[in-house]
Amino acid sequence: MNALELDRAARQRAQQDLAQGPDRGTVWTRRTFLHESLRQGAAGAAAFGFLPLINTLDIAYAQGQSFRFAWVSDTHLYPRNVNTRFVDKAVRAFKEVQAMNPPADFLIFGGDLAQLGDPVELQLGAELLGEIKIRKLFIPGEHDWYLDMGATWNRMFGASPWTFDHKGVRIIGLDTISHAPDFWTSRKYSAHERMGHMSVLDGTLGGAWSAVGDKQMQFISSTLSNWPKGAPVIIFTHTPLYEYYPAWNFWVRDWKVVQELLAPYSNVTNVHGHVHQVLYNEIGKMRSIGMLATSWPWPYAPEGVPTLTKPMIRADPGDHFDGVGWASLQSGVGGRVDNEYRMWRKTVFADAAADSGTDDNRNQVLSPRLSDRL
Ligand SMILES: [Fe+2]
Ligand SMILES: [Fe+2]
Repeated sequence: MNALELDRAARQRAQQDLAQGPDRGTVWTRRTFLHESLRQGAAGAAAFGFLPLINTLDIAYAQGQSFRFAWVSDTHLYPRNVNTRFVDKAVRAFKEVQAMNPPADFLIFGGDLAQLGDPVELQLGAELLGEIKIRKLFIPGEHDWYLDMGATWNRMFGASPWTFDHKGVRIIGLDTISHAPDFWTSRKYSAHERMGHMSVLDGTLGGAWSAVGDKQMQFISSTLSNWPKGAPVIIFTHTPLYEYYPAWNFWVRDWKVVQELLAPYSNVTNVHGHVHQVLYNEIGKMRSIGMLATSWPWPYAPEGVPTLTKPMIRADPGDHFDGVGWASLQSGVGGRVDNEYRMWRKTVFADAAADSGTDDNRNQVLSPRLSDRL
């Protein structure tokens, strides 16, 4: 076996060892929402041609206080004179976040505010974000970064990593995107050429660019050194903290080190963007949630979709508000937290009985999406 195969075998073992799973005092349930078309029964679904679903994830902490926050990411703004389609969707998300009642305690903007790192795009993003008056925290995406290597981003939105405590939860924001190997200097690429290569899903020149890196590993280590092993931790990243699909950088290349580092902590949740799709995974004691984009939904990877994910049905190509959205996470009485994908699908009418997102991961087998079978 080569090194990658050994790593994958280790991950496989970690995933199969339920005794090592996340803290079961934190209960996750998942509701599945069905689309209006299904009201007419199977014939309606068949006539519609696909079976749209959205998912919510509910978390109930065994202890902790109440709070609620919002996540928006992957707006991919172009300058207004290029197009306003993505602007419209970012505006909608920010208005909806600001209208939350009761208000969210804070907003996490999870990266890819801009499309090509253009200061005009980042400035536009900052203006649109002005709609939101609650506390805002930022982590960068690769589309924000590789034109000027983060200079404008850091000046406007602050540098990562960062950490703070909020009502019994230690919260950490990481930069997983500034770690690309230097493919540009020897080729004498311009900044725009570099950004162009970094802005495509399956670009080969950037290679395995996503990582946490040694400095941030030390940051996590020292941040958690005085934190009780069973107390809740939320880590925000642009890319997922595990290996989902390396070919599209749906991972961090040093995921194995991250997971070893976090192994002593039994209540870690990683919330990430970049994948532009509903994802849920558990590896060892860490749970991981992939968030919707406001811009467009990426396809699911051809392999490696986490078994605990109910893949969302692909978007209606005639509706650019379909398959995208934002998310809120709300903690209620007794520390119960509901995490909900706010997908902008037109007519959601019912939710199915809650099913467990944690206890049956050995029994869940990923099968072709219903839309593919129809
Ligand atoms: Fe993105
Ligand atoms: Fe991204």
